[in-house]
Amino acid sequence: MVYTAIMGYGTIGSGVFEVLRENRAEIAAAAGQELEVKYVLDLRDFPGDPAEEKLVHDVSVIVNDPEVRIVVETMGGLNPAYPFVKACLEAGKHVATSNKALVAAYGTELLAVAKEHHVNFMFEASTGGGIPIIRTLYRSLAGERISGITGILNGTTNYILTKMDRDGEDFCQALREAQKLGYAEKDPTADVEGHDTCRKLAILMAMITGKEVDYQEIYTEGITKVQAGDFLYARALGRAIKLVGSASLCEGRLSAWVVPMMVKAENPLCGVGDVFNAILLESNMLGTSMYYGSGAGKLPTASAVAADMIEAAAHLDEHVPFGWSSEKLSVQPAEDNVCRYFLRVAGRPEACSGILESCLGNCESVTAAEVAGPELAVMTAAMREGDFRKAEKKLEAELSAAGCRIVQILRAE
Ligand code: HSE
Repeated sequence: MVYTAIMGYGTIGSGVFEVLRENRAEIAAAAGQELEVKYVLDLRDFPGDPAEEKLVHDVSVIVNDPEVRIVVETMGGLNPAYPFVKACLEAGKHVATSNKALVAAYGTELLAVAKEHHVNFMFEASTGGGIPIIRTLYRSLAGERISGITGILNGTTNYILTKMDRDGEDFCQALREAQKLGYAEKDPTADVEGHDTCRKLAILMAMITGKEVDYQEIYTEGITKVQAGDFLYARALGRAIKLVGSASLCEGRLSAWVVPMMVKAENPLCGVGDVFNAILLESNMLGTSMYYGSGAGKLPTASAVAADMIEAAAHLDEHVPFGWSSEKLSVQPAEDNVCRYFLRVAGRPEACSGILESCLGNCESVTAAEVAGPELAVMTAAMREGDFRKAEKKLEAELSAAGCRIVQILRAE
């Protein structure tokens, strides 16, 4: 029997407790011994809850109990998650976390602390929710050279974009529904501004390259400016609008960004709807592979935590070498990224079409019958982000002089 503890008895923590009870036999068989929760740490009390008698309010009870070998961190945030996790690792306990903010900010240090103390810092649940992508990277694809990754890594925003697309809702309506269903937090900033996707992308790239990737270097835009009308054009083009985190590696140089993107129908990410996540990888021997599943939610995320606990139990006295070192891999400036650009311009089409062509070169005109009001929509050829930004400044000035204005710009494959 291995004794464990759960720090944070919210949605995910209580999910871990449930998964360990419900799948007790399967988990014991996989781990080679039973996993028993000895403590649950939370500030609150939970009268009548199955975890009631395990509750403690002081982290030192866990840290100082040598019987506890595996600790789960499901508190979220950096404080006190960071000092608590570090203390557990220093006390020689394995830690499994679902906390991507913690992994993105302190992963390098916590991996090193784990190594030093011959234990493991595991974070399968931090990225892709229940999708086993971290273990896939360090085990199944360990012999592959990965050159590109594109992912839908945030369930909340994917749900919102799916609602806007299917039901014609605007962003605020769809966000309210996501909040009602418990997908989006009361303060949805981290999800809708793309920060959550950005952190997950940085974790994946660090796993792939073995080097530290600073999420703050990744150019990030969220979905708050996506408009209901954009989906009419996307549909006319046979495309979908998705918040993607994408990165590519070419001769050791890392390009990455998080942006709402019009993806083509033939891209497997196009059909990934609702709260699902998907990660598309390009690697040199396997080619294209995709990993799809529930990217958020209580039991899917808890399932990924339980998988880490099994791995820790199977390597109780051993450090499993995976993760990344403190060597840093810088992200190239977003100006060098290349894509197409979709633009909507309000104004008389005959007044603005010449300006669009002169500033952006040959553009494909896009029409969507249902769009009301005088406006013109075009898709550029593929161009560098830096060149587009320069052209955009000139375009804005010339359009304004002609009584027209840009109402939307979206990147496109
Ligand atoms: N807020 C996150 C999402 C939770 O919606 O994907 C899972 O990381």
